[in-house]
Amino acid sequence: MIFAQITDFHLKSDGQLFKDELDSVATLKAAVRHLNGFDPRPDLVLATGDLVYEPDERAYRVLRELLDELEMPVYAIPGNHDDRDMMLGTFGDLGYLPRDGEFLHYTIEDRPLRFIALDTVIPGSVGGEMCPRRLAWLEDRLAEEPGRPTVIVMHHPPFVTGLGFMDKHAFAGAAALEAVVRRHPSVERLLAGHLHRDIHVRWGGTIASTSASIVFQMSLDLNQGAASSFVLEPPACSIFHWTEGTGIADYTSPIGDFGPRRTFVSQQP
Ligand SMILES: [Fe+2]
Ligand SMILES: [Fe+2]
Repeated sequence: MIFAQITDFHLKSDGQLFKDELDSVATLKAAVRHLNGFDPRPDLVLATGDLVYEPDERAYRVLRELLDELEMPVYAIPGNHDDRDMMLGTFGDLGYLPRDGEFLHYTIEDRPLRFIALDTVIPGSVGGEMCPRRLAWLEDRLAEEPGRPTVIVMHHPPFVTGLGFMDKHAFAGAAALEAVVRRHPSVERLLAGHLHRDIHVRWGGTIASTSASIVFQMSLDLNQGAASSFVLEPPACSIFHWTEGTGIADYTSPIGDFGPRRTFVSQQP
């Protein structure tokens, strides 16, 4: 099985450039083209939040139109820039989002890997959390299928990264979440966004990671007093290859024109 993660689109649909520099509509279109052209094609795509820059109806309408161009199913979760009601209005007809309850969490069951998508949003806050109700829901889902390899998908990473200007928005409930994950060795991976960089850590007895953004990357500055800033390193997504024997191998896949493949030509006659 092959699947992809695209994250942190920060889509602005009003014709304005993000931070006066970046065309977030063009970058999402490029990401869609990238995945549609990826051979072999990913079985599904995870869109891990901060889908729009500011939640308004037009931004979500454009978002849906652009994601509909993907030739494989895409599953979205909210980030701190998103609005749950507007997301439900945008993607509700696809059937994977819950129709009742406060949180947009769900599972994907019809694949060799099982996915549990979490809603870590605190409305009005940059940081995320797993409150007792959300933790109880996760614990119940993990207990349902202890023998199936499972991927947890969420916007906010529950671990410290070293990027001080992001770590200052601490994840509420991180220790309790770690304890839940540690009790369930079925968790192959925990995938997050929000950090706009690819970062991998050992956490809760599994491997946890964040993916690079398809638009802009946070500056790699590990000075704890560093000001919050971003850089125009290449947009990228994450590609995951799963086999029963090995588990998941993950790749960062930069999005852009890097020229043709150069084949290795054998010198042998
Ligand atoms: Fe973001
Ligand atoms: Fe975020």
